[in-house]
Amino acid sequence: MMDRPRRLRRTPALRALTREIQLHPSQFIHPIFVHERDDVTPIATMPGVSRHSVASAVQQAHEAHALGIPSVILFGIPDDKDEQGSGAYDSGGIIQRAAAAIKAAVPEVTVIADTCLCEYTSHGHCGVLREVPGQTGADAWTVDNDPSLDLLARTAVSQAQAGADVVAPSAMMDGQVGAIRAALDAAGYAHVPVMAYAVKYASAYYGPFRDAAGSAPSVGNRATYQMDPAGGYREALREARLDAEQGADTLMVKPALAYLDVLSLLRREFDLPVVAYNVSGEYSLIKAAAAAGYMDERRTVLETLTGFRRAGADAIITYHALDAARWLRDDP
Ligand code: PBG
Ligand code: ZN
Repeated sequence: MMDRPRRLRRTPALRALTREIQLHPSQFIHPIFVHERDDVTPIATMPGVSRHSVASAVQQAHEAHALGIPSVILFGIPDDKDEQGSGAYDSGGIIQRAAAAIKAAVPEVTVIADTCLCEYTSHGHCGVLREVPGQTGADAWTVDNDPSLDLLARTAVSQAQAGADVVAPSAMMDGQVGAIRAALDAAGYAHVPVMAYAVKYASAYYGPFRDAAGSAPSVGNRATYQMDPAGGYREALREARLDAEQGADTLMVKPALAYLDVLSLLRREFDLPVVAYNVSGEYSLIKAAAAAGYMDERRTVLETLTGFRRAGADAIITYHALDAARWLRDDP
């Protein structure tokens, strides 16, 4: 007798009944860029995404909540930057103000704070720089790991003080999860989870984000701390293991699309939730192709997000979150 898998594909109801992968707004995390201005500025490289004022960020959180999206992740864009990235750990800093405003207005929304220095440093690196004596050119400075840990830990504590429910360290400094965990515990925030950017590659797919956040490094690049895309599974496992050992509550893979194999590896190897970060360049690829009429945006986005789920993602940070939630609501 011939086996006929097509029997279960005959009707929408049969397909819905037998599908294995569920995509739901409760799995989405909505990213919000917040700047220190009163206007809302569209980001040219990310059609449909803007830099928001604090008031408009609160609106965004309302919208996410109304669509069944439980969490937002905040990226701060300060007016002033300096060598030490002091805006990141300023109690009156932009992310701190936005977190407080959102928690006051929509307490049900989980506020995740991206914990990094690159939006706040004048040189655009995720840590502080140190001169290397006797060297010239690109070798004359380095991103100084351990002093950066202190600043990242201060940043996380000040975000928690402002009301952030979760901190998400993305700097890729060695030991950052442990330093942040210890500082949060010491400051009375043992209940605040660390959503670790555990496996983060030095990726061209961050291009639009750096335009949005004005965080492209002015000298050098991030390849001495972010991972080599060709690094392979040993390096991915090591990074994830170190974060898990240091107290990470969830692991993240970033970017997502070109690294679905790594996502699925972490899903199998660790007993922690895994988050996929569907990054800016992945978003803009689809937006550009859809605008050009090359592909159907709704179908492409939902298929892509379903792929992250199939690969093992529990949660997905995606700039498509609001649209995808609307599509799932209106035409499930
Ligand atoms: C900051 C940070 C970046 C992203 C998230 N947090 C940029 C970077 O590392 O250059 C990228 C997000 C995206 O591209 O959507 N460390
Ligand atoms: Zn950074």
